[in-house]
Amino acid sequence: MLRIEGLNQYYGGSHTLRNVSFEAPMGAVTTVLGRNGMGKTTLLKCLMGLLPVESGRIEFEGRDITHLKPHQRARMGIALVPQGREIFARLSVDDNLRIAMAATGQTDRSVLESSYETFPILKQFARRRGGDLSGGQQQQLAIARALVTKPRLLILDEPTEGIQPNIIQYIEAVIAKLAADRTMAILLVEQYYDFARTLADRYVVLQRGEVLRTGEGQHMDQDGVRGLLSV
Ligand SMILES: Nc1ncnc2c1ncn2[C@@H]1O[C@H](COP(=O)(O)OP(=O)(O)O)[C@@H](O)[C@H]1O
Ligand SMILES: [Mg+2]
Repeated sequence: MLRIEGLNQYYGGSHTLRNVSFEAPMGAVTTVLGRNGMGKTTLLKCLMGLLPVESGRIEFEGRDITHLKPHQRARMGIALVPQGREIFARLSVDDNLRIAMAATGQTDRSVLESSYETFPILKQFARRRGGDLSGGQQQQLAIARALVTKPRLLILDEPTEGIQPNIIQYIEAVIAKLAADRTMAILLVEQYYDFARTLADRYVVLQRGEVLRTGEGQHMDQDGVRGLLSV
């Protein structure tokens, strides 16, 4: 599904991603873990085409996408739920979703309805401005905005950050259900160990831009992954 090979990225002189390689298979949750500043968001921006890479290769469904533009990747079925959510604050919930559909050429109206079924609070607040939602509601909107594009690769950057526990549980259940449907690959970046461990089929630990360890989700405890995340 997604294959990353020998990715290198620099911010000016600082070498931020170092030879990063791993795969995120279809129908599975691959979690990328690492402390603050380890390069997780940078990696996701490279995957989405928001940052150029210096070298290496990104393959999606067998196609080399390393140099494609973000909108081309979005139309191919890659959706990013960015850190900080980045919803359109002045647009209604409904318009936030419709813009994402329009931008990716999605004409299947049923995806809008099914996203509202997944997140009933969004249906209730469909006419409310995005900026007037709580943080947890905005996170649900950001996920719904990705889902209405019918992604085959869903990328989430710290979806639990700054969200209250009951909404975290809800988001966990939604991701678990998406994974169980086996219609997409899910790449989940997290610092919240328990959330990631519950969902992960595979894990990747990033440290200073390098892949430090990889393994199976069910081995995260015995592999000592929690300890790699504590400061
Ligand atoms: N736009 C930028 N310009 C220069 N350095 C950056 C920029 N964005 C992030 N960095 C640096 O790159 C490193 C990785 O950042 P980031 O990918 O955001 O890490 P993470 O998401 O794991 O917290 C950090 O040292 C950060 O300070
Ligand atoms: Mg980050």
